[in-house]
Amino acid sequence: MALKPIELAAPGPVIPVIVIQRVEDALPLAEALLAGGVRVLEVTLRTPAGLEAIRRIARELPEALVGAGTVRSVADAQAAREAGARFAVSPGYTSEIGRACRQIELPLLPGVATPSEVLAAMADGYDFLKFFPAAAAGGIPMLKALAGPFPDIGFCPTGGLTPENARQYLSLPNVKVCGGSWLSPQATIDAGDWAQITRLARAAQALRES
Ligand code: 3PG
Repeated sequence: MALKPIELAAPGPVIPVIVIQRVEDALPLAEALLAGGVRVLEVTLRTPAGLEAIRRIARELPEALVGAGTVRSVADAQAAREAGARFAVSPGYTSEIGRACRQIELPLLPGVATPSEVLAAMADGYDFLKFFPAAAAGGIPMLKALAGPFPDIGFCPTGGLTPENARQYLSLPNVKVCGGSWLSPQATIDAGDWAQITRLARAAQALRES
């Protein structure tokens, strides 16, 4: 049975937003994140290597929960599903993408940045949404404001989060988990410094308790 999007929030307080330039990096990177306790992995489709990276992680590392980020179209959603993605994350929301994901049973974390977009996603049955781009779209004050009319909606803020400000976001009752690219810096991937990736993952996991 397909997982519910809210289940993506349980394993950790941070979902890494991963950009893979070289497909060879996919498995060591995913292994390094897993070693640090990070199990939910969002691999973006913004590079040509993204889909193949998802395919390899899904095939070789069943303990990871790998999904596709930057899903911008029905075709993206279908390609992600075919590659073995267990979920999809979109930077914005259209009913067309929502419908396609439901048809192929691909759990979707839809992106929103305004109350109207929250309403559109809610109308299609979504109650756990990515707030993107979080910092640029109003950050913590915006999330507090959204809690007024939308107390029943959970958010995953992404975009502009850092190890320093993530704790504040995570302290909000309507923030169930957050997303960020800081767990997989390109320079660290290029250096093959997988131990550093594991350290970043551990530090991110520790944000839950502290
Ligand atoms: C995303 O695609 O969700 C963001 O680009 C991640 O944003 P960040 O790089 O500021 O973490």
